[in-house]
Amino acid sequence: MGDVTLGRGVLAPSSNLALYTDDVLADPWPTYQELRDLGGTVWLEQYGMFVHPRFEECRAALRDSDTYTSAQGVMMNDLMNETLQGILLCTDGEEHSAMRKVIGAPLTPSALASQRERITDEAEQLVERLVEQGRFDAATELAHHLPVTIVSELVGLPETGRERMIEWAHANFDCFGPPNARTEAAFPIVEEMVAYASNECVPGKLRPGGWAAQIWEAAERGDIAADKPPAMMNDYMGPSLDTTIFATASMIRLFAEHPDQWTRLREQPDLALNAINEVLRIETVLHTLSRVLTVEHTVDGVTMPAGSRVIILYASANRDERQFRDPDVFDITRSNAAEHLGLGFGTHSCPGGNLARIEMRALLTALLPRVERFDLVECDQLTNNVLHGLGRCIVDVRRP
Ligand code: HEM
Repeated sequence: MGDVTLGRGVLAPSSNLALYTDDVLADPWPTYQELRDLGGTVWLEQYGMFVHPRFEECRAALRDSDTYTSAQGVMMNDLMNETLQGILLCTDGEEHSAMRKVIGAPLTPSALASQRERITDEAEQLVERLVEQGRFDAATELAHHLPVTIVSELVGLPETGRERMIEWAHANFDCFGPPNARTEAAFPIVEEMVAYASNECVPGKLRPGGWAAQIWEAAERGDIAADKPPAMMNDYMGPSLDTTIFATASMIRLFAEHPDQWTRLREQPDLALNAINEVLRIETVLHTLSRVLTVEHTVDGVTMPAGSRVIILYASANRDERQFRDPDVFDITRSNAAEHLGLGFGTHSCPGGNLARIEMRALLTALLPRVERFDLVECDQLTNNVLHGLGRCIVDVRRP
C-alpha cells in the first residue's frame, strides 16, 4: 500500500490487494473496506486499473457516461470485451438509446402489469408446496422457479438450449473478471452461448411475440441497425435469470439469519419493497464492472489519464459508511435503502430491476403469512468473478 506515481507524474493511492481470488470472493468486505479507507480513487497494482471503492465516486462515474464510456467493454479482460462487443451493456450514445428502448420495452412497469397476476399465482403455488415440505433449498427450489419458468418463456428462446441458460449466464459473469483460471475455464462455455445466440436465436426459431423476437422486429422496422440482434440476444440471456436467482436466495438467508427482521416484515408487509432494496444493497449481486475514460479525469485528487480502465465497485459503494449508516447491518427499515447501486445508476442502470423486484415481492408476499421463521440448515456460496450468491441455501420453515 502507499502512493504510486503513474505516467506523467500522476500520484494516486495504490494497493496490491487482490479482488478476484477465492478467499476474497468468499468474503470481500474487509478488502473493500481497506480500499475505501485508501481513497475515492485507488490504483490497483495487480490489474493495472483504477478503482472507485466509495459510493459518491461510483455514482458520479455511472452518471457520466461521456467521460466513463462502456463502449470499450465493461469487463476486466480484452478477450471478453471483444467477444461481447455490440451488446447493450457495452454500447453508448445514440446507438445505446435506440437499443435500450427495444430491450427495455417489455420491462417497463406498464408492460409488466399483464404478467403480475401470473407471477403472483405461480409464487403462491410454489410457496405453498415448499412450505408444506417443511424444508427446502431457497437457492434452487425457491429462487429458480419464476426466472426459469416465466422469464425464460417470456424471453422466448428456442427450447433447445433454454436448459443451459443458467450455466451460460454463470460462465458469462465469470468471464467479466480479469484474466484468471475462472475466466479461462468459463470462456469456452461463453463461446457456446454466443454461438447459440447467433445461430439459434433467429426468426423462425424464436417464440413469436417473445422479447427476443421483438428485437428482430425492431431491426426490421429500422429502429436499430440490422446487424444488432444477434449480439442483443445476450442482453437477455446473460442477466435475466442468475441475478434474480442470487438475489432471492440471499434474501431468504438474510431473513433466516435475522429473524427479528422477518418478524418486523410480517407485522408491516408494506416494508416489502424497502426490504428488497436492502437485500440488493447489502448483498449486491453484481459486485464489479468497469468503464474506460474518454478524457483525462481527476477524482478525489487523483488525475487518471484518458484510456484508463476504472473498476466500479458497486458492492463496496453499497457498504460505504459515508452513505449508509451501519452499512453492515441488515435493516429493512433503512430510510435510504433505495439509494443502493445494486441495480446500477444512470444511463446503464438495470432495465430488468422492475421485473426482479416483482418476482422477489411475489415470493415474499406468498411466504409472509405462511412462515413464522426460517431456520438456516446449510448454505454454500458459489464462487464467481463478479456475481455474489449462493449455490445452496437449505432452510427449515416454522409455520405460524
Ligand atoms: C436482482 C436482479 C438484477 C441485478 C442485481 C441486476 C444488476 C444490474 C446492474 C448493476 C446493471 C448495470 C450495469 C452497468 O452499470 O453497466 C444492470 C444492467 C442490465 N441489466 Fe440487470 N440486474 C438484475 C436483473 C435483470 C433482469 C431480470 C434483466 C432482464 C430481464 C436484466 C437486464 C439488464 C440489462 C439488459 C442491462 C444493461 C443495461 C444497459 O447497459 O443499458 N437485469 N443490471
